[in-house]
Amino acid sequence: MSITDFDRYPLTFGPSPVHPLERLTKHLGGAQVWAKREDCNSGLAFGGNKTRKLEYIVPDALAQGADTLVSIGGFQSNHTRQVAAVAAKLGLRCRLVQEKWVDWDDPVNDKVGNILLSRIMGADVRLDPAGFDIGIRSSWEQAMKEVEEAGGKPYGIPAGASEHRLGGLGFANWAYEVAEQEKQLGVFFDTIVVCTVTGSTHAGMVAGFAALEEAGGRPRRVLGIDASATIDKTRDQVGRIARRTADLIGLGRDLRDDEITVLEGWAGDLYGIPVESTVEAIRLSGRLEGMIIDPVYEGKSMAGLVDLVTTGEIGKDSTVLYAHLGGQPALNAYSGIFD
Ligand SMILES: Cc1ncc(COP(=O)(O)O)c(C=O)c1O
Repeated sequence: MSITDFDRYPLTFGPSPVHPLERLTKHLGGAQVWAKREDCNSGLAFGGNKTRKLEYIVPDALAQGADTLVSIGGFQSNHTRQVAAVAAKLGLRCRLVQEKWVDWDDPVNDKVGNILLSRIMGADVRLDPAGFDIGIRSSWEQAMKEVEEAGGKPYGIPAGASEHRLGGLGFANWAYEVAEQEKQLGVFFDTIVVCTVTGSTHAGMVAGFAALEEAGGRPRRVLGIDASATIDKTRDQVGRIARRTADLIGLGRDLRDDEITVLEGWAGDLYGIPVESTVEAIRLSGRLEGMIIDPVYEGKSMAGLVDLVTTGEIGKDSTVLYAHLGGQPALNAYSGIFD
């Protein structure tokens, strides 16, 4: 099998844009920094990284005759918002378990941003007091049972679509897309910086780039920046999903441990709670590039990129691709930070 053997239901506008971040590059005074914009990848409810993952999951849901997509995330989950959008587009129902992943003291945290959009798109949104966890949850399994008992045909998509068998394929394909764009632009990205939480975005990239290298491509580093402060769990999950995805796309060898890099240091103590470096990175990206990033994910990975470039850990002669994975709607639930 290779990546092209898998069914893909088009939900994106095509390849996501890639462009240089010239003012940020100049400001940091080191490596050349570019961005690839998953926040601009589709017409579905502001897009984001899950839309690309869902392109490979939807064919399976349709083949199974599902009439309801059932998924789970935090109150401000970007993932559940994208599942709600895809369900609306396909004419399916959507049942969402929204857990209290973040203890963030904002009275509209469960009302604005992502959760508001999911409600607008007609999803059946149920709040749950459980805290943060990237694994399989009994509340999600219970939601599927309830849909079934009510006569529906549920199709389960776990948090971030990561524990799904096909969850890594979207970003394995992203690697191939990058390689094509490099040819068109006459550039080579030796380093990719990506936020990692439930793991299949980063894992898919690792598998995809390994397959490209195996086919004669130049080697490169994929640096995952942990944004959940559960580093051991995240490393384990990324490694497991990367190996599963590599198997699926016929890599033909085991991934080495040194191909799976999850860096810690920018997540703070808790998932969903921005720290000073997160807020600085959000302001920097906004003021220098007009590029908006969020306080849960991208603000943390951008803080990582800023440090890695300014300390020279990513060298001056590098060309870095920052994977912007979306997530801006959550900013509405964090407005107090910028008062
Ligand atoms: C905006 C954004 N960035 C990064 C991530 C992390 O991706 P993953 O969960 O696949 O590790 C997510 C989702 O969790 C996200 O919504």
